[in-house]
Amino acid sequence: MSALPVVPPTPAPSRRTARVAPFLAMDVLSAARAKARQGADIMHMEIGQPSAPTPRRPLEAARAAMASGQIGYTEALGLPSLRERIARSYQELYGVSVGAERVIITTGSSGGFLLAFLAAFETGARIACACPGYPAYRNIFNALEMETVDIPVGAEGGWSMTAAAIAAESRLRPLDGVLAMSPSNPTGVIARPNELADIGALCREQGLWLISDEIYHGLHYGAPASTALATAPDAIVVNSFSKYYCMTGWRIGWLVVPPALVRPIERLAQSLFISTPFLSQVAAEAAFDAVDELEAVRAGYARNREIVLNALADLGLDAAPADGAFYAYVDVSRHAADSMDFCRRFLDEAGVAITPGADFDPHLGARFARFSFAGSQETCVEGMARLKTFLQTASLRA
Ligand SMILES: Cc1ncc(COP(=O)(O)O)c(C=O)c1O
Repeated sequence: MSALPVVPPTPAPSRRTARVAPFLAMDVLSAARAKARQGADIMHMEIGQPSAPTPRRPLEAARAAMASGQIGYTEALGLPSLRERIARSYQELYGVSVGAERVIITTGSSGGFLLAFLAAFETGARIACACPGYPAYRNIFNALEMETVDIPVGAEGGWSMTAAAIAAESRLRPLDGVLAMSPSNPTGVIARPNELADIGALCREQGLWLISDEIYHGLHYGAPASTALATAPDAIVVNSFSKYYCMTGWRIGWLVVPPALVRPIERLAQSLFISTPFLSQVAAEAAFDAVDELEAVRAGYARNREIVLNALADLGLDAAPADGAFYAYVDVSRHAADSMDFCRRFLDEAGVAITPGADFDPHLGARFARFSFAGSQETCVEGMARLKTFLQTASLRA
């Protein structure tokens, strides 16, 4: 008998990858889609993705560009005309003057985070973030061997991260930066202009980078969110065409950075990405002319929000305010010891996919779940009807 060939062991993945937790919302999406493929009628309330299609004008612009067949690299910092158009939008929307040379086009805000974090921070940097917060921050910081410093926010403080809480943390151990997000994922809370100004002032005083994630700007149901640039001109602003502009799959976003960071980020972008996809940049520029379509989409979210928040209140479930974005962050602890279990059972027994709070908060997330109302009105109505039946029929606590 001939000996079995010796198969050398596959080299191990880097330790860095072990520090990156799975993004549970994406895992729930995969599980829900697998169920749907088996014929289950699933209500998708897990993912933060507009169900509305990309507006007509960006589609037309991309089709026209595609017809030319010339789809090449662009400048690493992005098409000059798109950078100009974004710069102009700061004057139009916020009355803030931003030079186009400070605008950098990125592959979604996700690509922007990578560039901004690499350009601003050293290995081991400590960055304050509101907790609960967007899970990818922690995961990207972990991958880059940087540290997330959780600033707990909750119902008692209006779910807002304050300058005082950040200052208290930095007294314990110095920080290198603050990552603010308004409107927030998962709570939808919009920071008041003075709160953002106070955080900006603290950063200036302590020599910290302020990074402001403004990806949900445009999605508000009362007063709009203000840009950090209005009070902190040296802030690094991260934004995207994914949410308000309904362009998640185009993977296009932007940064506004202080002049001193432009060239360092250009050098990084040249080697990490070469350029952002050309067609997406062309489409994005035309998206600024799609405001009528986009405002109709926002009106739909406002109706969905009413449906979801009213239904939750009727069921005695407390939700964060949802001033903006398209999420309700809900305390489900009366019904389950662990919201992961609640979400699993809600999907299995009622066919509604929502996201467990552990995605957003490693400490108290087991009490919460996030409902996205970015889908259709029918999804929201049916999802809430199923929630009512589920709570009535399921004996969740062991
Ligand atoms: C707060 C926040 N920032 C950034 C992103 C990433 O968005 P994208 O890379 O599509 O621009 C998301 C996506 O859900 C988000 O919720």
